[in-house]
Amino acid sequence: MLESPTTEAGVTAAPAPGLAEEVLVLDFGGQYSQLIARRIRECGVFAELLPATMSVDAIRERQPKGLVLSGGPASVYEEGAPAFPQALLELDVPILGICYGMQVMVQALGGKVEAAESGEFGRTDLTLRDGGGRLLAGLPDEQHCWMSHRDAVFEPPAGFTALASSPGSPVAACESPERGLYGIQFHPEVVHTPYGTEILTRFLRDVAGCEQEWSPQSVIAEQVAKVQAQVGEGRVICGLSGGVDSSVAALLVHRAVGERLTCVFVDHGLMRLNEAEQVVKAFQQFGIPLVHVDAEERFLAKLAGIDEPERKRKIIGEEFIRVFEEEAAKLEDAAYLVQGTLYSDVIESGGSDHAATIKSHHNVGGLPEDLEFELVEPLRMLFKDEVRAVGAELGLPDRMVWRQPFPGPGLAIRIVGGEVTRERLDILRAADAILQEEIRAAELYRQLWQSFCVLPVVRSVGVQGDGRTYAYPIVIRAVTSDDAMTADWARLPYDLLERASNRIINEISGVNRVALDISSKPPATIEWE
Ligand code: XMP
Repeated sequence: MLESPTTEAGVTAAPAPGLAEEVLVLDFGGQYSQLIARRIRECGVFAELLPATMSVDAIRERQPKGLVLSGGPASVYEEGAPAFPQALLELDVPILGICYGMQVMVQALGGKVEAAESGEFGRTDLTLRDGGGRLLAGLPDEQHCWMSHRDAVFEPPAGFTALASSPGSPVAACESPERGLYGIQFHPEVVHTPYGTEILTRFLRDVAGCEQEWSPQSVIAEQVAKVQAQVGEGRVICGLSGGVDSSVAALLVHRAVGERLTCVFVDHGLMRLNEAEQVVKAFQQFGIPLVHVDAEERFLAKLAGIDEPERKRKIIGEEFIRVFEEEAAKLEDAAYLVQGTLYSDVIESGGSDHAATIKSHHNVGGLPEDLEFELVEPLRMLFKDEVRAVGAELGLPDRMVWRQPFPGPGLAIRIVGGEVTRERLDILRAADAILQEEIRAAELYRQLWQSFCVLPVVRSVGVQGDGRTYAYPIVIRAVTSDDAMTADWARLPYDLLERASNRIINEISGVNRVALDISSKPPATIEWE
């Protein structure tokens, strides 16, 4: 059980928002830029990704302990290539340039960057010089690193020491410790650079002098303080979907404002087996005021006769808003609305400088912009894995912390090519429950990005006992993915597939066939609709 928010130790000790130690990653458009920020956070230092064009005054205001310049696709001598912001040198903050970030700094300070005879892509041998200087001291003289570049540094700027070389990079690392400037050609943020974490830690702790430990506990303390400052004595409302984001956001806000938070759980009847009960039970255990709206009848009535996917999404989205608004209207004095916006949404929509907008894309949880609430977004700075860590720290049950992504319109978009009826939902729900059970028993649940069943509305002939059947097929879909942009079909073990198939056909009347979807994304999508 969580303690009451007012007695929460550590809240007052938390640094005032904006004054905590942070390192800023300036993004020159590299494919690993987000990963740099994530790795720095894994080293226990808060890092934020910002565009390389951010004004130096704005950077100064943030008082970062260090700056990291990311890689990028351009050549430094190309016309229009992003320039090194010279004014950064006036900030007196240590800078680590990575790949393009190093090249652009070296070139601006008078070093020599040119196209190499051939680029280096992938695993590359790295040889340290003179013990590796300040940045690489103590690491093996010969090691591997991960490279991805065509241009190379041939001479460091005056006053810099070359620290390492690789077959295609005469200067693969250099530094000028007196000026606090460091550069590496390779990528410390990817796991294929075995000493990457050590190098980042050296920069963060020894060079930049970061001392604080950024952790789930410190995030909680910081966000609780921030929410309290934003909301004051106001009342807050939060729409729950059962997913990890809205659940963690609600728990955090509850810690900050206690019973002044009311959660509204619109149960559209399109959830998986027992999922609605799990949400209700978890929130009851935390003592969080919860309005559970059982709206299954309403949703099914609206979906009657509809089989077109986008119509389904629209109907469910609109009905969701209608139900939510009705409930919100009953909580007259609530002025704030919690949203589980994540850092990846913030980056996608143009960065943290943009005003908070209500996330409407794709999501049934998306609410219209004319709702008269001020948004509270306690997860705005967090990546998904960090949200999970915060959720676990707040005591959210494992099952909710590790829930695979589930689409807002729920099972409705997994009944394809026909109307969504209660009978079909029940069949799909039962099949899905069996699949989940088998996948969990095989300890594969967390390795899969998503796993679920689909019910195509077609019937095929089978034979069971002495009689012929004419029943639905169930399609098993399981994918691995990092971000749902691309996905590969999971190679589930045959014995697992066999058990799931047998059980689905034997235990569910109305199903006589199980198929496996072996399509990757692209060209297929993860969901069938
Ligand atoms: P697709 O099927 O486009 O899905 O490969 C990518 C990710 O988005 C999820 N998805 C949805 N999520 N409302 C949602 O909240 C939707 O309408 C929706 N459609 C797809 C899908 O489950 C996958 O994680």
